Amino acid sequence: MKFFVDTADIDSIRELNDLGMVDGVTTNPSLIMKAGRDIQEVTKEIADMVDGPVSAEVVATEYDDMIAEGRHLAKIAPNICVKVPLTWAGLKTCKTLSDEGTQVNVTLCFSANQALIAAKAGATFISPFIGRLDDLNMDGMDLIQDIRTIYDNYDFKTQILAASIRSANHMKDAALIGADVATAPPGVIKAMANHVLTDKGLDAFLADWAKTGQSIL
Ligand code: E4P
Repeated sequence: MKFFVDTADIDSIRELNDLGMVDGVTTNPSLIMKAGRDIQEVTKEIADMVDGPVSAEVVATEYDDMIAEGRHLAKIAPNICVKVPLTWAGLKTCKTLSDEGTQVNVTLCFSANQALIAAKAGATFISPFIGRLDDLNMDGMDLIQDIRTIYDNYDFKTQILAASIRSANHMKDAALIGADVATAPPGVIKAMANHVLTDKGLDAFLADWAKTGQSIL
């Protein structure tokens, strides 16, 4: 499973990228707002840093304006993936941009039918939002599973990008189901390394080591 980082925070991306853990980045208008940076500037900086796709989202809601924004964003760098919402205008934009050779991430997906129609429109990535479904007492992972089944049934090439990930368990479950990509905040990716027994075991080893009075160097 590929790891995308869901942030526009340059330092967090750099830390994970230096560890070879970043296969791509996703941003959205809320994350740009949180970063407090100019969208063009920060997107360019991210795209220059990472090798994989960097999603930059349009904010227009009508087809003509979405296309104009999408083409503009795509010019920022060769690895820009234009993100469009799963609306009818978004699907039309997806089709046009993907026909032009631009990668498109169709976002705000909450149903298997939406994922199916996005694949028909030529989406490079479909972004089902797990956490926001879980927030409503629905099972976001069931959606990932349904999309996996549908895409495999018909050999759709659209990649499932599990989004709105809130925990390390979400990462594990997405990987078990076979999501192609998971995008998560930096803190969630780092939390994947944590285990209480690791901390406990290390404490015990260090306590015993202190009793030996030795030093390695
Ligand atoms: C995905 O591309 C979105 O940016 C993101 O995963 C949304 O996550 P949230 O539901 O935590 O805002």
